[in-house]
Amino acid sequence: METITNKKISAEQAIELEDKYGAHNYHPLPVVLERGEGVYVWDVDGKKYFDFLAAYSAVNQGHCHPKIVSALTEQAQKLTLTSRAFYNDSLGEYEKFVTSYFGYDKVLPMNTGAEGVETALKLARKWAYEKKGVAENEAVVIVCKNNFHGRTISIVSASSDPDARTNFGPFTPGIVSVEYNDAAALAELVKNKNVAAFLVEPVQGEAGVIVPDEGYLKKCYELCKENNVLFIADEIQSGLGRTGKLLACDYDGVHPDILILGKALAGGVYPVSAVLANDEIMLCIKPGQHGSTYGGNPLACKVAIAALTVLKEEKLVENSERLGKVLLNELKAIQASYPDLIKTVRGKGLFCAMVINERNGKNAWDVCIELLKNGLLAKPTHGDIIRFAPPLVITEAQLMECVSIIRKVVKMF
Ligand SMILES: Cc1ncc(COP(=O)(O)O)c(C=O)c1O
Repeated sequence: METITNKKISAEQAIELEDKYGAHNYHPLPVVLERGEGVYVWDVDGKKYFDFLAAYSAVNQGHCHPKIVSALTEQAQKLTLTSRAFYNDSLGEYEKFVTSYFGYDKVLPMNTGAEGVETALKLARKWAYEKKGVAENEAVVIVCKNNFHGRTISIVSASSDPDARTNFGPFTPGIVSVEYNDAAALAELVKNKNVAAFLVEPVQGEAGVIVPDEGYLKKCYELCKENNVLFIADEIQSGLGRTGKLLACDYDGVHPDILILGKALAGGVYPVSAVLANDEIMLCIKPGQHGSTYGGNPLACKVAIAALTVLKEEKLVENSERLGKVLLNELKAIQASYPDLIKTVRGKGLFCAMVINERNGKNAWDVCIELLKNGLLAKPTHGDIIRFAPPLVITEAQLMECVSIIRKVVKMF
């Protein structure tokens, strides 16, 4: 059988292979990437692009960060997986590191974001039955409209997106939804004694970088405290510097009862997610009650330590805060020049979005295709929104180059 490994393939061939042999569960932009470094990626023809998606904020530390890659390769030659049937010499070190980094007693290591969210939901239900005294099978979790927490059955049960839900039922019960950025609506719902938790994205990413009002998260957290409800923050996309703070919750001074991390926790090098909580909550889960074969493997542990270290050493949070302001101001200036095409711009840190007015049958997808042709990769979300979320290692000079690409493309429309 012919092997294609190491064989140079054309963009057309790569696309054809994915189309023929892969499930059609994504609709990628027509660019085939083969290499990445920092804020740049290169396609199979050697053309260079700015990556303005950063793998949905997984690559905050930049592509192929040498320190993270070397943590991976060093550990890969020593020990990769033990399963949790045995102890390994990296997990405890990582657990101590990550819990002190974020200020929690304990961490439960998983792999993908969705698994992290599932873990948090299970933990909240267990806590509700065993600590809060909710009657068996009556626990309720409150989620926000237009959320995105992943793709499992329970998570899509919490979704309001028809694409995520249609024909995937029956759905998991015990989930109610509330308008995002509406603390008064939450105040009514948390009165229900069966509520275990409120799950929220501190900035809604997939919904189109929806930044709630200042004080919203704090108010929600207080409501949770008053009603003995757990406040769960899904910082999988908004966390780890993306919004200009280590966590987006930091803007409101909120320390969530349960914190979910993923994506940039491994700098785009390996799937690592984590659920953090204090003992009172975390110790509700006992041996044999939850887990994952790969969760907490030595490779993941070393990679995550390196990824978090890079975030601090290279002051990426500070860079995101500073350059985020520059980016938003520049986007606002572009909007002011072309108000017919650009409905709104918004963002926090290097997490921005531009809402496009459809013109002459052209939409956000068409704008992204032109951006691509001009050397900048961004992806539309919900048809009319373009998210701008470059790796946080971007410099001001690189950012300004990107701004001029965006301005040039917007002008063409
Ligand atoms: C806020 C949030 N939660 C959860 C997820 C799911 O993560 P994963 O795709 O790793 O399962 C995502 C992915 O985009 C996300 O943005």
